[in-house]
Parts: sequence; C-alpha cells; structure tokens
Amino acid sequence: MPSKNAITNTYDEMARDRTSAVHSLLSSCSPLRDEEAGSWFVADHETAKKALALPGLLPRDSENATADLTDAQRRRVRPLELHLGRWLAFSDRKPQRDLRQGVRRALRPGADPARLDRLHGAAHRLVPRPLEGSELVADFITPFTVEAVTDLLGAEPDSGPDLLAWGADLVAYLGLDRYREEVVERALDSLARLELHVAEWTRTARGAVPDAIRSALRHGATGQDATAAFAQLLTGGVEPTRSALVTGAVSLTSVGHPEAFRRAPEGYVSEVLRVASPFHFAPRTAGSDLQLRGTRIPAGARVSVVLCAANHDPARFASPESIDPGRPLRDHLAFGHGRHFCAGAGFAEEMLSAGLEALMEAGLGTENIRVTPRYERTAGMTRAATLTVGHGLC
Ligand code: HEM
Repeated sequence: MPSKNAITNTYDEMARDRTSAVHSLLSSCSPLRDEEAGSWFVADHETAKKALALPGLLPRDSENATADLTDAQRRRVRPLELHLGRWLAFSDRKPQRDLRQGVRRALRPGADPARLDRLHGAAHRLVPRPLEGSELVADFITPFTVEAVTDLLGAEPDSGPDLLAWGADLVAYLGLDRYREEVVERALDSLARLELHVAEWTRTARGAVPDAIRSALRHGATGQDATAAFAQLLTGGVEPTRSALVTGAVSLTSVGHPEAFRRAPEGYVSEVLRVASPFHFAPRTAGSDLQLRGTRIPAGARVSVVLCAANHDPARFASPESIDPGRPLRDHLAFGHGRHFCAGAGFAEEMLSAGLEALMEAGLGTENIRVTPRYERTAGMTRAATLTVGHGLC
C-alpha cells in the first residue's frame, strides 16, 4: 500500500487519469523517485524490460507494502499479507517454484487438448443474440471468463459466482492505496472462505491444474500455498481478461478493425493487450543496491515497473494509442517479463480471441452497433465495469 499520508502521487494520478499519468511518467526521467508515493517508477519500455529481467529485483515485499500502517493495522492485515506472499507472482521460494513449474505445464494446450474447443463452445453459447440492448460485462464477458477459468481449474461450474466475489475482494485489498477497514474486513472473510473451498477442491477436483497442485502438495507445498496458487489463477484469469475483452470489443467497432482482426487475430489480440494493459504495475523490491540506467536504487527500495507506460512508450511503439496488428507479437509487457511472466498468457490470448470472435459473429463490428464502455480504475488496475450496446443509428 502506498503512503497513507500521500496528498498526490503517481499512484493517485494513475487511478485518477491513467493516460495523463502515463504521459507524465514517459516525459520524466526513468527510473523516477516519487517521495510522496514512497517508490521508484520505471516507465520506458527498454528500462522496464531490463528491470524485470534483473535477478536483484525481487517480488512485492510485504514489509514495504505495509510500511505506512500502524502496528494494529499491520496485525490486522497479516493473514492477507501472508497469503499474498505465497502468490506465484510474489514469491521465489521453493513451494512456489514447484507450483509455478506444475501450473505452467498444466496450462499448456497439450495438457488438455479439448480445452480450446470448450472455450470456443462457451463463447458461442453465451454471447447474447441480438447484441443490442445488452450490457456485455454482465451478460457475456463475466459469465464467459468465469466459465473458462472454472473449467481450467476443474472447479464446480456453480462455484463461479462465489469464487468471483472472493477473488474480487482479494484484488481490492491488493489494489488499496491506503488502509480501508471495510476492504480489509471483506478480504479477510473471503480468504477464510476460499481456504475452505480450496481444501475441498484439492481433494475432489479433476484436471491438469488440480493434478499439478496435488503433486506440489506431495512435495512439500502446504494447503496455504495451494490456496494462494488457486487465488492467483482465479483472479489472474478473470479480472484482467474481462478488462482486455472490453477494450477489444470497443476497438472492433472502429472502421476496418473487424477485417484487421480476421486477417491477423494473433496480432490483433497482442495489440489489444498492449493498449489495455489491465495491470498497471509489476511491484518489486530492490534485493540489493541496483544500477538502472545509471541511477542507483538502494537495497530495500520499493520499485514499480509501470507496464502500462512501457506499453505506450512512443520510443518503442509509434502512435502507441492505435491498434496495429502488424507490430511484433508479444512485444508488449502486459504479461510482465522474466521469471514471473504470466503463466496464463497463452490461455488469456485464447480467451480474448474466442470472446472477440463470438462477439463479431453476433454482429459486433457492423455499422449499426455502438458500444459504450465504463472502466473502474484503481492505482494498480483497470477493471471492466460495464459495456452497453446500443444502436449506431439512434
Ligand atoms: C489479459 C489477461 C492477463 C494479464 C494482462 C495478465 C498479466 C500478468 C502479469 C503482468 C503478471 C506478472 C506479474 C509480475 O511480474 O509481478 C502475471 C502473472 C501471472 N498470471 Fe497473468 N495475466 C492475465 C491472464 C492470466 C490468466 C488467464 C491466468 C491463469 C488462469 C494467469 C495467471 C498468472 C499467474 C499464475 C501468474 C504468476 C506467474 C509467476 O510468477 O510465475 N494470468 N499475469
């Protein structure tokens, strides 16, 4: 959590107006020290990529994240911090390394060859017809992403709404820019429920992902490690994919875009991810004194690698706001880079492709369809709120 005393800082600015925050970061030096935020910010594409590959730049550190809390607040959030400290993205310890390896293997298409067919089947079954009058986040994007991720996890389909709510509460805590008791309380309650759910799931679920987690449990991972891996797969799978699907659906209503998507779906999806950049930062801590582009970052300092800024860096991407499927694939940093590169990147791209394809088949991209998106931004994330569909000629 950034400084609770902050008046205005890069985190606040990112939540208030992401475009302006990105612009201001990219026109400053990088790395940039923001005293108000209590963090270094690395914004340009070249340095961000270099930083993410540095072995001395360690994952999010709980001490740093809670440095501005009172002792009582720190005691209150301890179970949440212990939980987040076990997420694959936030740990390089042995149980997480084992889990990471198993999960990555389980997420490869070859681990479940029918997964892709089920994904496309779900997209076509769930897409509303006609599109006009629907609110696509509630009517399609959420049920589709939740079904895809519960299928991937081998979880009971009817557990989707509970899982979604618990995951959202944990992400809300993670995205807090200052202590808020009601958010902490909800996250603690959801964590307790999730722990019970995962204990049962590890006993009964079928599929490549639960098999991978059971195997890690046999090799020293604990139930809490399993809960953390499950939580990350769940939240990582649903929240950013929903957000990117909204961006993709909106861009498909621009002239020439449906054709561009049909011609080069992989390039188009890669560009949607770059422009959407749902996770704004990769949070890190300097494990030792580091030199980054001639600047010394002291050991223990908090470092935010600004993925959404790197993805809009005009030095790397000419006309960064425009979707150009001809750019090199996955040149963006929306999935991070280095040893914590997103384990679900391929699956996320498949979900986006299947979702956009189904929307186009239902009429998105034709002249008479108009969409209006609404996003919710926190310092750390752009979330999809609503996407209403109306008639373009009205
Ligand atoms: C648009 C969709 C997605 C985006 C933008 C995204 C973004 C990211 C980013 C930026 C990281 C690295 C975080 C860091 O370095 O601090 C990450 C890690 C991770 N993501 Fe994703 N993700 C997406 C979808 C998914 C999906 C579908 C899954 C699985 C169902 C998933 C599972 C994970 C996991 C397990 C990690 C941790 C990897 C590790 O540290 O070994 N993500 N993701």
